[in-house]
Amino acid sequence: MGRPLIPLSLALVLVRSLAPSSALAQILFQGFNWESWKQEGGWYNFLMGQVSDIANAGVTHVWLPPSSESYTDGPQGYLPARLYDLDESKYGNKEELKSLISAFRDKGIKCIADIVINHRWADNKDSRGINCIFEGGTPDSRLDWGPHMICSDDTEFSDGTGHRDTGLPWGGAPDIDHLNPTVQQELTDWMNWLKSDVGFDGWRLDFVLGYSADVAKIYVDQATPSFVVAEYWKALANGTDGKPAYNQDVRRQELVDWIQTVGGAATAFDFPTKLIMNLAVQGELDRMRDSNGKAPGLIGWLPEKAVTFIDNHDTGSTQSLAPFPTPLIMQGYVYILTHPGIPCIFYDHLLTMGMKESISQVAAVRTRNGIHPGSTLRIIVAEKDLYIAAIDEKIIAKIGQRDAFDGSIIPSNFKVTLSGEHYAIWEKM
Ligand SMILES: *[C@@H]1O[C@H](CO)[C@@H](O)[C@H](O)[C@H]1NC(C)=O
Repeated sequence: MGRPLIPLSLALVLVRSLAPSSALAQILFQGFNWESWKQEGGWYNFLMGQVSDIANAGVTHVWLPPSSESYTDGPQGYLPARLYDLDESKYGNKEELKSLISAFRDKGIKCIADIVINHRWADNKDSRGINCIFEGGTPDSRLDWGPHMICSDDTEFSDGTGHRDTGLPWGGAPDIDHLNPTVQQELTDWMNWLKSDVGFDGWRLDFVLGYSADVAKIYVDQATPSFVVAEYWKALANGTDGKPAYNQDVRRQELVDWIQTVGGAATAFDFPTKLIMNLAVQGELDRMRDSNGKAPGLIGWLPEKAVTFIDNHDTGSTQSLAPFPTPLIMQGYVYILTHPGIPCIFYDHLLTMGMKESISQVAAVRTRNGIHPGSTLRIIVAEKDLYIAAIDEKIIAKIGQRDAFDGSIIPSNFKVTLSGEHYAIWEKM
């Protein structure tokens, strides 16, 4: 082999800059909220009527709710029991799901399955009267498990013969023993079936705090999804004053460690950015720049692996466990849709709260400027009521209550192309 004509590092730069922006641009969409299972006529059928609106917002991946049959106490799908049974989901049946996935595919959009495997509901009782006899949802024995597949320290359900849990316990359903080789193999086969038979392309991993990163790595390595995003959700770290600290390095280091241990396509929801923003948009925008001049969340350290979001079915919707301040939601979208990371738009925000045009316009700025997960961020101002940043030196975004500021901050070859209540975006002409 002769020497390459151009040094490898330069060649990589050229490849990156020549690649079509669509290959790098990724915008996720969470296609449900906490109440979607109640939809008359079925959620899958209902969402079918919104595929065009979702595509028009520049979305590349849609996260759908857990599709397996789920225990009656968990109609949203987060207490799955018969994993192969996609006909008894409250969102619709398997054929309706496949039709929806293929409608998204026709628009070039991939679908992400919500994978709930930390715990699993067991339909049948053993001789002790405990629900620990699992049914897989097929006529054969796949995923038909017993109490020895439950973590030994989950004393409510197990028979004590499994391994100890590798993560946090989860109350209300058996915690699955992921160190059991049969469990690993049969769940891997099920995930591959979701790809081959149903048409999913990737995973959103529910509650990964419930099992170790080494366990997650097994499933990511063996089922090789093209995209994986983990729900690794912890509250912000508090400072000595008992309030959320400005410095959330401990939280983002945990995420970096998880992502690097799992490897492959693994990314994680950027909970630090989401939870810092909840506070920052309410007059604490100085939180949006860390002591090294970078973004304070995961995107400040590992933007290509960080999925940014404003709210989801837990933090927002009817559960509202950590809601973004409603009147300020557009400022949140201006931040995540102009910044590095992989932004995820929430169903309610795009389709039920009157922001479809505004959010789609900001997403269009991202797409036409080729802003991508690894784009360069230069924070220009981060004061309590004003935040201004340049991204890839192509666009400048402003959020915050203060609308008057030194105009010389914005170079004269940048022109405002979008503005709304306490936000503005300039593009380089
Ligand atoms: C931070 O303090 C609040 C209020 O005292 C508390 O509810 C929360 O659990 C604390 N967060 C952590 C991560 O300890």
